Order: sequence, then structure tokens, then C-alpha cells
Amino acid sequence: MSSRGFLGELSFFVCRSVRCPKVTGTQIPTWKWLARNMVGNTDVSKEGGVVELGAGTGAITRALFERGFTKDRVCTVELSGEFAGYCRERFPGLTVLEASAFDLEDWREKVPFDKVQAVVSSLPLAFFEDGDRIRLIKSMLGSREEGGLGADSMSQMAYFAHRVVKKDRGLEEGLEVKMGSFTWLNVYPAATWYYSLLSREEEECLV
Ligand SMILES: C[S@@+](CC[C@H](N)C(=O)[O-])C[C@H]1O[C@@H](n2cnc3c(N)ncnc32)[C@H](O)[C@@H]1O
Repeated sequence: MSSRGFLGELSFFVCRSVRCPKVTGTQIPTWKWLARNMVGNTDVSKEGGVVELGAGTGAITRALFERGFTKDRVCTVELSGEFAGYCRERFPGLTVLEASAFDLEDWREKVPFDKVQAVVSSLPLAFFEDGDRIRLIKSMLGSREEGGLGADSMSQMAYFAHRVVKKDRGLEEGLEVKMGSFTWLNVYPAATWYYSLLSREEEECLV
């Protein structure tokens, strides 16, 4: 795995964030403690691969490899051509799709495995409308037959006390919303949130 080293990665990320602050969403890459918590919904012993949304310079991608995933079981989706190029150079052989996570129909067939056990997202969803965030999460969890990606669960980071989707709003949409751990050792401190689809029985109990 080639690498530009810590300072090279940091300066690459900072330069990009200065030019495109809203798309990049933060000023420096995620620290390893948050990256490790972000991949808590993945299990190397389970069937299927992991789709990562918003790879940046690969902080969370690396946490997936540390967890035991091989390159053929990871696929990253990155909007920025610069970050996509960085990840291709850093992780030769990894599938890096240069696309918007929101345009699932453009990239779903390029994911190199059939079963998606988890989606791991560090997208700057705070900058999006509530409806767009819910649409994205539901498209990742929705079945293939209905045009979704078919993932079992999705994780998303959110800085400070921000909630990407409130629990009640999630229930209205058929989503279970759970907070995982809170990571103080990161700029900025952040919570990891997990989303999954409610089962039919769970939905019926809510009526
Ligand atoms: C907060 S950074 C996280 C980067 C890296 N995963 C990390 O944790 O250090 C958000 C990343 O999402 C990417 N991004 C923003 N909008 C996107 C979209 N619609 N589709 C895919 N990637 C997107 C940005 O280019 C950036 O790399």
C-alpha cells in the first residue's frame, strides 16, 4: 500500500478542504479512533462486502483493512476526482468509484460484490436537507428489487450533538436509528450513528 505519509495526507486533505469546504465537510482527515468506531457495524466473518461513502484520503478505508477486510470486499464511492485518485494510488487494486453517493443507479452495478453487508458513510450530510438524507439512507438499505443497494446496515458520523436523522423521524420512515459510541479523540468530536430497516413486525407494533 503506497502512502504519502502523515504530513502528505494532511496537507492534501487541508488543500482540498480550503478549496471545497462544503463538499469536504471538515478540515482534516478522521482520526483513527473515530475511524475504528465508524466500522463497528462491519463483521469480516459475515457474508458480503462493505461500501464506503466519501473516502477522502482513506482514513476509514484503512480502518476496514485493519478490521480484516481484503480489497475485494471493500468499494469506495467518492465525488472528488482528486480524492478518488489519491485513494487509487494509496490502495492499488481497491475499487474506487468516482461518483456521487446520491446517484446510486449510476454506480450500483459497478460494486464488485453482490452482497453488501454494510455501508459506512462520512459524507457531510449536515449540509443536506432532511428529505435528501433520508432518501440516501433508504436507498442504501432498500432491497435491490426496489432499486436499493440492499445493505444490512449503514453507519454515519455526526460531529458534536448533531443528529443526521432524529429517532422519531426515522421510525416514521421505517428506519431504526441507534447511536453507537461517541468519540472525543477527533477533530471534531463525533458520534457514530447506525441505521437499519425496521422489520415488518416492528413496523406493525408502531401502528
Ligand atoms: C468529511 S470528509 C470524510 C473523508 C474521509 N472518509 C475521512 O473520514 O477522513 C467527506 C468526504 O465525502 C466526499 N463527498 C462529499 N459529497 C459526496 C457525494 N455526494 N458522494 C460521494 N462523496 C462525497 C468528500 O469529497 C469527502 O471526501
